[in-house]
Amino acid sequence: MLCWQTSVWFFLPIATAIAFHYECAPYSVRSVCRIEYISYQPGDQISFPAGYQHYYIKQKSMRVSSFNVTIFDQQLYEAMHRPTGIEMTSTRLEELILPTELLLGDFSSNHIETVNTTNGENFLITYLDLSSNMIRNVDFVSPLVNLEVLHLGHNSIEAIPGSALSTLTKLKYLYLQSNYYITSIPWSDIPRSIIHLDFDRDGLTEVVFTNIGLPSLEYLNIRHNELLTINITELLRAIPNLKEAHLYNSGLGEEQMRKIYADLTANNISFTNPFDRCQDDEQYSMTYGDCIKRQEADPFLTSRLRGVLLSLVVVATALVFVCMVLLVFKHMNR
Ligand SMILES: *[C@@H]1O[C@H](CO)[C@@H](O)[C@H](O)[C@H]1NC(C)=O
Ligand SMILES: *[C@@H]1O[C@H](CO)[C@@H](O)[C@H](O)[C@H]1NC(C)=O
Ligand SMILES: *[C@@H]1O[C@H](CO)[C@@H](O)[C@H](O)[C@H]1NC(C)=O
Ligand SMILES: *[C@@H]1O[C@H](CO)[C@@H](O)[C@H](O)[C@H]1NC(C)=O
Repeated sequence: MLCWQTSVWFFLPIATAIAFHYECAPYSVRSVCRIEYISYQPGDQISFPAGYQHYYIKQKSMRVSSFNVTIFDQQLYEAMHRPTGIEMTSTRLEELILPTELLLGDFSSNHIETVNTTNGENFLITYLDLSSNMIRNVDFVSPLVNLEVLHLGHNSIEAIPGSALSTLTKLKYLYLQSNYYITSIPWSDIPRSIIHLDFDRDGLTEVVFTNIGLPSLEYLNIRHNELLTINITELLRAIPNLKEAHLYNSGLGEEQMRKIYADLTANNISFTNPFDRCQDDEQYSMTYGDCIKRQEADPFLTSRLRGVLLSLVVVATALVFVCMVLLVFKHMNR
């Protein structure tokens, strides 16, 4: 009896540890290994074919994900033979231990709460997509000194510490849209290499561009935040090569927005004007360079016009009636 129990405890770990070899499914690019199904938990024995520098592990259809990889760790990376590119989305990933050799990583649409970058120093990664995850803290980005593109949109980031960005001296594109808890940006710690900044639909309450210089910045999006004022003079001085700006905030009011748009126009900076209904609403038309609502569509005017028409019809009917009565009388008097 004792012997039987011992043997069960001895064999149980072997029975539960999964050993699995994955094959690449057909893909339009032959050098890319596409994986149709993957399940991995720490300790599982898995293997992949050799000779692939890029892995494509994405849900193709909208059906419920059959992927189940809760952690991306060094063991999984080694099993893949240390590829330079990994696209791994909708796999329920919760923890990412970023390999230092990885150049391109797309781990969007997972459940990532933490990214572990404490395991190395010379991170080579240049492109990292972590959008649509559950990230709250971004301190992990500071060692990623070769990053050029960083996607962090649609997360739950609470704050952007200056120390997280100041080391990223090659950063060109930063996406932080739809992180409602971000109330301020450490503008002075944004690297001067930056070209594109997206803070669409965050919770910014204030932007101060005093003593800021972003000479390469061409695209700025701070619309749909909580801003009550933007000093456009300071903004244009801080960002001398701005080409496209999205600044609409409902708290700024129409009058301030119109002034801002006039300044942008004068500086050849393109923008979309939400007040310019002429572009997509047929009830409005351009009249003398201004967007004016079409007259016939005015409900007040229409109802008044209808009233006038109605009384005209009544008067005309009455006139015809009177004429007929007069005619009948004339006939009878003959
Ligand atoms: C994913 O794998 C873990 C560990 O094997 C398991 O507990 C969990 O139920 C799996 N989730 C799904 C949705 O299959
Ligand atoms: C990060 O990963 C390393 C292993 O690569 C581990 O030793 C360390 O505990 C992890 N840190 C955190 C905060 O999870
Ligand atoms: C904007 O900033 C400039 C320069 O700091 C300042 O002179 C100006 O008064 C400010 N404008 C507004 C409307 O606050
Ligand atoms: C804007 O563009 C026009 C024509 O492209 C040019 O003549 C003008 O100098 C530009 N203005 C500024 C402020 O760059």
